[in-house]
Amino acid sequence: TRIFIPRDAAALAVGADRVAARLAQEAAARGLDLTIVRTGSRGLHWLEPLVEVETPSGRVAYGPVTPADVVPLLGAGILDGDTSESDNHPLFLGPTEEIPFLKNQTRLTFARCGVIDPLSLDDYRAHGGLAGLTKAVAMTPAAIVEAVTLSGLRGRGGAGFPTGIKWKTVLDCPDARKYIVCNADEGDSGTFADRMIMEGDPFVVIEGMAIAGLATGATKGFVYIRSEYPHAIDTMTRAVGIARRAGMLGTSVLGQGSSFDIEIRTGAGAYVCGEETALLNSLEGKRGVVRAKPPLPAHKGLFGQPTVINNVISLASVPVILDKGPEHYRDFGMGRSRGTIPIQIAGNARHTGLYEVAFGLTLGEIVDTVAGGTATGRPVKAVQVGGPLGAYFPRALFDTPFDYEAFAAAGGLIGHAGITVFDDTADMLKQARFAMEFCAVESCGKCTPCRIGSTRGVEVVDRIGRGIEPEKNLALLTDLCNTMKFGSLCALGGFTPYPVMSAVTHFPDDFVAAPVVEA
Ligand code: NAI
Ligand code: SF4
Repeated sequence: TRIFIPRDAAALAVGADRVAARLAQEAAARGLDLTIVRTGSRGLHWLEPLVEVETPSGRVAYGPVTPADVVPLLGAGILDGDTSESDNHPLFLGPTEEIPFLKNQTRLTFARCGVIDPLSLDDYRAHGGLAGLTKAVAMTPAAIVEAVTLSGLRGRGGAGFPTGIKWKTVLDCPDARKYIVCNADEGDSGTFADRMIMEGDPFVVIEGMAIAGLATGATKGFVYIRSEYPHAIDTMTRAVGIARRAGMLGTSVLGQGSSFDIEIRTGAGAYVCGEETALLNSLEGKRGVVRAKPPLPAHKGLFGQPTVINNVISLASVPVILDKGPEHYRDFGMGRSRGTIPIQIAGNARHTGLYEVAFGLTLGEIVDTVAGGTATGRPVKAVQVGGPLGAYFPRALFDTPFDYEAFAAAGGLIGHAGITVFDDTADMLKQARFAMEFCAVESCGKCTPCRIGSTRGVEVVDRIGRGIEPEKNLALLTDLCNTMKFGSLCALGGFTPYPVMSAVTHFPDDFVAAPVVEA
């Protein structure tokens, strides 16, 4: 019998290793013939550690399983593949794929995540892996770029720039040396899609990078992973070694003549190094300071050469586009937001985790139905969409569909598609202060509106909180936010006004303090 236990960081954090060790020990003591397969996560975080058992009719799931549950589960004859007793067990969740949170998803990019052994290339291939690259090696670079353009894929790091157009810019550069850089510096709090796919299906990221190399004429790729992700760094490093030995990377990709290789690089903990030009500086061994654009990285990027710099999920979405065809991908979604988006649900939500779905669900459907409301059971007050630089949405805006343009029209952004839920005990003035404080801590210091504006912003919010000249200070905060929005060099200073001003606009009551009474 095969038992699947994740070794994804989120599962490890709640004891998956201890569950696996206990199971191995008990199985050996009882002489049971069990094979424990360590997988990525299915993304149902509130059920981790989620243990799956292979049965003749597919996998069934139990969760959340603690080490103390192992003996009772074995005692009931459950974990040895005999599921006849399962229905009555309190941890029994039924067939994994039938769990509504999983069943209602459209998993194009995350299809294998949590299913396969992440470091088994055979498993990868058996589940549709390498089909995209196999097609790409037989295509011209222009045809690959055309397919990605036709698919409608837009940058999943947050900005939503059309991936095909970025690739074409690099393809059209005559330079002999070009690079592919995978931005895995997933700094947004509450987001984890990049980490999950690197830990759960690393070959799909490698395959996407190799396709990008073939499409643009780049022969070298770098994956820049934040140091806070040790498990992802380990899995990606091992996967690159395996891919190289199997001929998926190297001087002749899949034996077809084109050369492409990948190096893994580790960040050092600065949020701003997720900004593409700061990341390039960091990769070059320089201080992670933002560069002015133009020149765009596509023209003059790493070491001054044309560079495709894409987020992990953008690259991981490419293999399925090449395999199933751009039309298949493009048919999902709404408006100019095509395909699927891995929504990451965090904060005070009942069902936290990763939910990949076609664009178009409303924010209300995601929060109330998919996430099941708050974990505390209290009413939802606000949802921050797009990480720490994203706007707070009140319930009045819950009919906004998940679509780049619709979110922009509502004064927000989808960003990297992380949503953080807050209940009615949240103090939005504190959240606005946190945004300014975050910006002050993480600012690279290159431009004044961000470097100085964020510190002044904390002070102004504090004055409002203490009831000191509230009207004057609210006007000052608005003015400051406008200066930061239009005067900052990059998204850190430029987007901090989103959480601040959305909190002020939608939750004005939280910005009214008792007036200061002079003694
Ligand atoms: P941007 O709009 O300046 O650029 C988007 C991308 O398109 C860049 O790679 C840029 O080089 C490229 N580009 C623009 N015009 C081009 C052209 N004509 N040809 C080729 N390439 C072109 O946005 P930026 O500053 O790169 O990203 C901002 C976003 O980052 C925000 O929306 C925010 O949501 C997101 N973000 C994500 C984080 C994460 O952890 N994933 C953290 C912080 C911010
Ligand atoms: Fe640096 Fe902030 Fe200016 Fe961005 S906005 S370049 S992080 S100082």
